[in-house]
Formats: sequence, structure tokens, C-alpha cells
Amino acid sequence: MTGPSNSTDATEYTGSRVVVTGGSSGIGAGLAEAFAERGAVVGIVARREDRLGEVLRRCQIHSPDSMMWVTDLADSDAVDRLAQHVLHDLGGVDVLVNNAGIPKRRHVTGLDMQTVEAVMTINYLSPVRLTLALLPHMVERGSGRIVNVSSVAATLSSPGESAYDASKAAIAVFSEAMAVDLWNTGVRVTVVYPGVVDTELFTLPDNDPFPGGVDSISIETAVATILEGIDSDSLAVYVPAYFANFALAKAQNVDAFTAGMADYVRTLGTAEAGPAIGGA
Ligand SMILES: NC(=O)c1ccc[n+]([C@@H]2O[C@H](COP(=O)([O-])OP(=O)(O)OC[C@H]3O[C@@H](n4cnc5c(N)ncnc54)[C@H](OP(=O)(O)O)[C@@H]3O)[C@@H](O)[C@H]2O)c1
Repeated sequence: MTGPSNSTDATEYTGSRVVVTGGSSGIGAGLAEAFAERGAVVGIVARREDRLGEVLRRCQIHSPDSMMWVTDLADSDAVDRLAQHVLHDLGGVDVLVNNAGIPKRRHVTGLDMQTVEAVMTINYLSPVRLTLALLPHMVERGSGRIVNVSSVAATLSSPGESAYDASKAAIAVFSEAMAVDLWNTGVRVTVVYPGVVDTELFTLPDNDPFPGGVDSISIETAVATILEGIDSDSLAVYVPAYFANFALAKAQNVDAFTAGMADYVRTLGTAEAGPAIGGA
């Protein structure tokens, strides 16, 4: 298998092996199809077999050897088995996209530890587990890319979703430190910070309603922005890019930023119904 090559405007992935978790819908499905269109052999992962199969069929139009693994990433043994499948069925991985994730729009006073741990497991522990299982093979080969999908919620600390924010901050910070650790290995890291992308994430049950207030972008636009970020070897990719300015504003004056957030929350609802804004 060959690694990605950048001889044309868009990076070609012919012969590369790309694994996308959360490939059954939304951003992950869009990324999987885009990688397949660029020639990659894609391995997609999720729980819903029927939806995963639909995405796989679309990938196989471009890349017939693409495959899928029905896996519940909440199950640590299943994550370990997935890593073995990636190594044996796909023959390894050139680009690992840890995209699977769950939202948790819930006011902090409504949180319990079981919920916090479940969110942390899917959004942080599981991608770290899969990364640690596959990283030695990338390091040994001297090449590879790990793409971790975080959220602007990580940097903006979106109210009404503290458990989600923290899980996305954890994967972002892990990724940044990992990027430095791997500086001389040939393994590259990209962290993706989506704002509001029009996916099923906003209609999943067991979440407070999403109040809106932020323009959403299409999956196609998000995928194009993410691929541009990967092509340009960016460590941080904000989707859309202007969200980086919000993160900068918060970093420069966190007191003013959180006071502004509180004002915004007051205009949208009660403290108990606290809306989630700024991210999924
Ligand atoms: N949409 C946004 O505005 C937005 C903003 C910021 C960040 N993000 C992040 O982007 C990523 C993709 O989300 P999306 O917006 O595309 O939503 P989505 O359509 O709901 O996709 C989530 C994906 O994760 C998979 N998944 C969830 N739990 C899983 C589990 N236990 N095991 C295996 N797979 C699991 C789902 O597949 P199954 O249900 O089939 O298992 C699905 O393929 C997530 O990490 C999300 O936090 C999204």
C-alpha cells in the first residue's frame, strides 16, 4: 500500500488505507465517501449495520475493496478487536479518523456520573484506545495520520453541555500533546473543531433540545473544509474557519467571554433549561 501523495491540488489517496469511525452517518459518512472518491481503501465503523452498509456501497463504487466493521465503540474489548481487524483485514492504516461521537446537551444540574462516564468513553477513551493500538504500526512504518474530531464546544465551553465539552477538550488536548510527542516519527496529527454541521447529532434522543442561534453548514462543506485542513497538514482545523476567532477571543479574556455567554443564555431561556450553543 502507498501513502497519500500530494502531486495534484487535492491529495490523492490511491492505495492508502483510511479508517473512519462513525461512518454510518453525518460527517463520518461524508468523509468516508470523499476518501473513497480520492482512491483510498476505506474501512468504516459504527453500530447501525444497515446504515453502515449503505455508506459502504457508496464507497465501493469508487473503491471496491472498502470494508466495514459493525462495532460498539463503548465496548473496550470490541475496540481492541477492531484494531486487530484493521491490521489483518485492511493490512494496516495510513489515516485513522476518530470521528464517532455522541452529544450530551444537558444542564450541569441534570448530570449524573453514569452519563458523564458514557460520554467520556465514546468521545475520549475509545478514540485514545484505538489510537494507542494502531500507533505503533504507524511509528514503525514512519508515516501515518491521526485525525481526531473534537468540537468548538471544547474551546468555547458551550453552556448546557459541560460533559460533552470536557470530553471534546480531552481528545483535543491529548491530540496536541501527541502531535508534539510524535514530531520526529513521520506520524502527523489533525484535530477537527466543527461548529454546527447539519447532521443527526441534533435530533438524537436523551438530549435537551438544541436551541439554534448558530448558522449550520452542510456535511459537504464540512467535509471539504476538513480535507483541505488535512491536505495542508494543519494541526487544528476549525469548521467553519471563523470559529477560530471565537476561541481566540475566549483565550484572550475568559471572564468577558463567559459573561457574554451568560447574557446570551439569559436571552434564550431559563438557567435550568440552559441552551447549548456554539457546538454540538
Ligand atoms: N454535527 C455537528 O455540528 C458537530 C459539531 C461538533 C462536533 N461534531 C462531532 O462530529 C462527529 C460526527 O458527528 P455527526 O455530527 O456526524 O453526527 P452523527 O451523524 O450522529 O454521527 C455520529 C457517528 O458516531 C457513531 N457512533 C456513536 N456512538 C457510537 C458507538 N457507541 N459505537 C460506534 N459508533 C458510534 C454513529 O454511528 P451508529 O449510531 O451507527 O453507531 C455515527 O456514525 C462527532 O464526534 C461529533 O461530536 C459534530
